[in-house]
Amino acid sequence: MIEKLKTRVVAADPDSVAEAARVLMAGGLVAFPTETVYGLGADATNGTAVAKLYAAKGRPAFNPLIAHVPDLSSARRIAILDGPADRLAAKFWPGPLTLVLRKSAGCPVSELATAGLDSIAVRMPNHKVARDLLAALGRPVVAPSANRSGHLSPTAANHVLADLEGRIDLVVDGGQTTVGVESTIVALLDGPPVLLRPGGVPREEIEQVLERELGDPPDGEIDPEAPLAPGMLASHYAPRARVRLRAEHVDPGEALLAFGPHLPKGSEHAARVLNLSPSGDLVEAAANLFSDLRALDAAEVSSIAVMPIPLEGLGEAINDRLMRASAPR
Ligand code: TXA
Ligand code: MG
Repeated sequence: MIEKLKTRVVAADPDSVAEAARVLMAGGLVAFPTETVYGLGADATNGTAVAKLYAAKGRPAFNPLIAHVPDLSSARRIAILDGPADRLAAKFWPGPLTLVLRKSAGCPVSELATAGLDSIAVRMPNHKVARDLLAALGRPVVAPSANRSGHLSPTAANHVLADLEGRIDLVVDGGQTTVGVESTIVALLDGPPVLLRPGGVPREEIEQVLERELGDPPDGEIDPEAPLAPGMLASHYAPRARVRLRAEHVDPGEALLAFGPHLPKGSEHAARVLNLSPSGDLVEAAANLFSDLRALDAAEVSSIAVMPIPLEGLGEAINDRLMRASAPR
């Protein structure tokens, strides 16, 4: 049972950020913008707050969370950064890259947040509101995307409210997020580096810094109770409508999620058309992905046809999210 809360929305400014830090310090739940998607934050060192967070999201309890930090010294307090981790952090932090690392000795993050693993996911977001909030709190903040488990990730404050009103204390509204897909997650543990989740930093750029290829996560449906590569549930980013990928035509009554200047056959009959990027720019497409999917889903069509999207650069993350959105459930 979830206690019913009065969720307040406040515009991001120094006063509201200070208030958000107080709410977190007191064990509350605060949604805040990052450059990727809105996160639902809780004090990572407070097990009760983390438990409330899982309950508010309705999240499988063994799916571990990302600890967000404002700077490198805070990262080193919770995790061990060796050579490759240091190089990636120097190049991409702050930014949409999460590193899964060995926990530091005496890591203060609650065991619940890391699902009892001896590794921890760490990220330094590149968003002024997020960084000011983290700096003001002076503790790591765990923050999954601020949506109900299995729903689309929010890229605006009203998306957060649609899912979590009455379940969280505060939403800090910082406008639309810019990257639009979640961070790339790379595990740097005992074996070779592994790309656990494609995201805001393209694989190629990470491989260039590491001077080696990234391994791939295991495919397919993964048991959330056995978090070998948790968070890789096949059906995850889920609109209500069926999602039909690599569409080369539009069926009558379908909505179309387009990409690029050339629309497929039947588009003129589409119930609604949104274009991720009319010019075919993958960065723009990533930023629009979740809000466009959400808008088409709101049109209450039974099916959304999605045009093919190239796999290079941010296209890998976009295709990954679309595949999850289309997975049978
Ligand atoms: O862009 C983002 O990363 C957003 C914003 C809010 O920062 N956060 C986000 O968090 O996407 P979330 O909880 O939706 O995704 C976290 C992913 C999950 O797939 C989880 O299984 C994985 O990180 N993860 C966390 N800790 C891990 C660990 N120790 N080992 C492997 N995977 C881990
Ligand atoms: Mg999520």
